[in-house]
Amino acid sequence: MDSILVTGNSALNGVIPVAGSKNACLTLMPATLLSEEPLTLTNAPQLSDIRTMGALLESLGTEVNSLQGGKVIVLDTRAISTHTADYDIVRKMRASILVLGPMLARGGHAVVSLPGGCAIGARPVDLHLRGLEVLGAELDLRDGYVHAKASGGLKGATFEFPFVSVGATENVLMAATLAKGTTVLKNAAREPEIVDLAECLIKMGAQIEGHGTSMLTIQGVDSLQGATHPVVPDRIELGTYMLAPAICGGKINFTGGCRALVGAFADKLEEVGISIEESNTGLVVERKDNRVTAVDVTTEPYPGFPTDLQAQMMALLCTAEGTSVLEETIFENRFMHAPELMRMGAQIDVSGGTAKVTGVDQLKSAPVMATDLRASVSLILAALAAEGETVVSRVYHLDRGYERVEEKLSACGARIERISG
Ligand code: EPZ
Repeated sequence: MDSILVTGNSALNGVIPVAGSKNACLTLMPATLLSEEPLTLTNAPQLSDIRTMGALLESLGTEVNSLQGGKVIVLDTRAISTHTADYDIVRKMRASILVLGPMLARGGHAVVSLPGGCAIGARPVDLHLRGLEVLGAELDLRDGYVHAKASGGLKGATFEFPFVSVGATENVLMAATLAKGTTVLKNAAREPEIVDLAECLIKMGAQIEGHGTSMLTIQGVDSLQGATHPVVPDRIELGTYMLAPAICGGKINFTGGCRALVGAFADKLEEVGISIEESNTGLVVERKDNRVTAVDVTTEPYPGFPTDLQAQMMALLCTAEGTSVLEETIFENRFMHAPELMRMGAQIDVSGGTAKVTGVDQLKSAPVMATDLRASVSLILAALAAEGETVVSRVYHLDRGYERVEEKLSACGARIERISG
């Protein structure tokens, strides 16, 4: 299993290009199942999760062609050859559940394994299922699989999500594009990844209004066509790397980044004393003062502070002057990085969904272990600011969501290398 060795405590200066969004790409790829014609995605990130989604789609009959080193993915689903998404693939990645809505909408039936538990929370898929049921799907849960049928086809309806779910909005939105009549989704997620999906579906011929707001109106059509669509830049990758100059000092230009993608997060960074400016090519982030100040953070659905940046923000606040309170409201177990950060000298007190972080002058190196994707990268950020050599182990999590981490950070002067093993 690979590890990452970081020798910390040096300022970072340079340029980091922002990759295409992992989470947008993971919902755009299953959209291929809605059409007989090819869907071409450009600006795709090169990540193991994307390869896993490719393998899942191939197992369903999609021809998957990866061009330009994975930056362009051509998906061709002339016919869905099997309607079963197997446990062996689904258990590797929860986003696999996103094949359910499109398969059901196009073929009238689908069998998809339930994803099971996850390190950051229980993460049930009940809202995905309830939304599809409202569109007329008959569901049967057997042997760990959802068996879904829509004999006469799906039918448009109104559904109000009891709380905001990104994945459930995506699944039901895709299904509704081929349902008969009008679907209205209330309390829908507004994340940029949903807007990206809606824009791609519209290019494919779908009739969607309201994306980016909490009410989506979808007028079902008989079929969708092929399209070419660039994946939106990854706001979580951008936010993560914006924390690198914030925690280490220095100045980095993030090409392809824009403030609109990271609004609430950028506001918090400015509050702690980081300068953020839009340039012709992207966003320039600089730490001008010696130390950042404490700030309270509560995670919320978009446009609030993203849960996917909470672990990384915690790494920064471990070095801030004063005490910060972080409240995690999206997932019930998303502080697994806290004990690892404490091994590096951080002062953190976790109680339920709240973490109180009292900044220290200097983090110190220690061997640490990654528990999930965003926890991994928060440990890398802490290691970049720490005195001495830190080894972060179990970094396979990292490769799910960050492409060429070592290359991107070393281009800015970080001393970081991968140890294969
Ligand atoms: C998406 O997960 C992202 N994943 C997550 O990214 C992200 O943390 C999350 O949205 C929140 O922004 C992808 O896009 C592939 P949700 P998703 O449905 O769709 C509960 C990362 O690090 N819920 O918005 O699964 C759920 O348990 C990750 O890249 C139900 O109870 O998230 C959670 O508490 C991990 N029933 C809350 O809703 C459901 O049917 C929000 O989850 C669905 C969700």
